[in-house]
Order: sequence, then C-alpha cells, then structure tokens
Amino acid sequence: MQTIEKLLTRFDPLTGVIDGEPTVKRHLRDLRDCFADSASYDAALAAGDPLIYSVASVEPANGAGDLQYGLGRLMPGCIGNEYFMTKGHLHSWREAGEFYFGLSGEGVMLLENEKTGESRMVSLRPHQAVYVPGLTAHRTINVGTTPLTYLGVFPAKAGHDYSAMAERNFRCVVVERNGEPVMLERKNLS
Ligand SMILES: [Fe+2]
Repeated sequence: MQTIEKLLTRFDPLTGVIDGEPTVKRHLRDLRDCFADSASYDAALAAGDPLIYSVASVEPANGAGDLQYGLGRLMPGCIGNEYFMTKGHLHSWREAGEFYFGLSGEGVMLLENEKTGESRMVSLRPHQAVYVPGLTAHRTINVGTTPLTYLGVFPAKAGHDYSAMAERNFRCVVVERNGEPVMLERKNLS
C-alpha cells in the first residue's frame, strides 16, 4: 500500500463541511445562463446574491488508480419554476464514471449522454446511490425544501470540464409542476 496521509476524513452530512478540507462556494452570480428564465434570474440577482451550493473536496492521492471525492451541499429554492442546481459538468477524461450517494434532503440528478443527448432524471435522496456512466454530463438539482447533501466519488484522473455544458447548457430542464419535479426539453419551454 502506498503511503497516503488522508486515509480517514470526517464529514458532516448536514453542513457539507469536511474537517480540514477546502470548500468551493458558488453563488447565484456564478450560475449566469444556467437558468432558462433569464428575467427571473436577473430579478433574483438584483435582490441579492445568495449562496447556491458548496463542494468540499478530498484528494487523498493522484495516481492512475486512485479515487477522490466531494461533498456537495445544494440549497433549496427556485428561479422562476426551475429548481436550484449545480453548474453541471463532463469529466475531462470522458470515460470516467462517478457514484453519487444521497445524504440528506430531496434531489434529482440530470444526466445527459454527450453523444446522443439522451437525458434522464434520477432521484438522489438518502439511502440512494446513483451511478453516472462515462460520457455523461451530470447536474444535481434540489427539488425539496431543505439543503440537499451528497457525496460524489470519482477517479482521481477524471478532471472537471465545465466549459462544454456552459456553452450549450443541458438539453433538458427540471421544473416544478403542481409540486412535483418534471423534466422538459429546453426547446419546448414557452
Ligand atoms: Fe463528476
């Protein structure tokens, strides 16, 4: 076994904090062009710039076979009728998959096959594990009323490519209809 200092970490599934690890924070201003309703986005931003989500990362090692993980915490809320979400990304190493484990709150993941555009909305809640295959863009969405927290475990070599999805956005959106999340094609939004 190689010598790795960080064999054990302690994470808090409610606050999203991992002791001693860096945390990236994304505010509403960081999510420009993610939401379909740009007028509602501008109005919300004019009223303030709330924290939307944070990700604490643990990188125990960087070898070819190593794993890393992140603890995400996504706040509840909507822009128009579209739920708060993460930016979403592909992996720089496109073949790299990932496991997400729901810890608290009620969420879904939006998965989009990069080649075909086929999209799926998959539940992400406590006691649920979601497998994100390679070549799949993935975004996490809070469809509940409390913070959504989750762990994502991925190959150390995966890398995060945000630019592709920032340019074209996801093909589908997840919006609230009669109190339930539904996935709609972006092009069909009125
Ligand atoms: Fe990922």
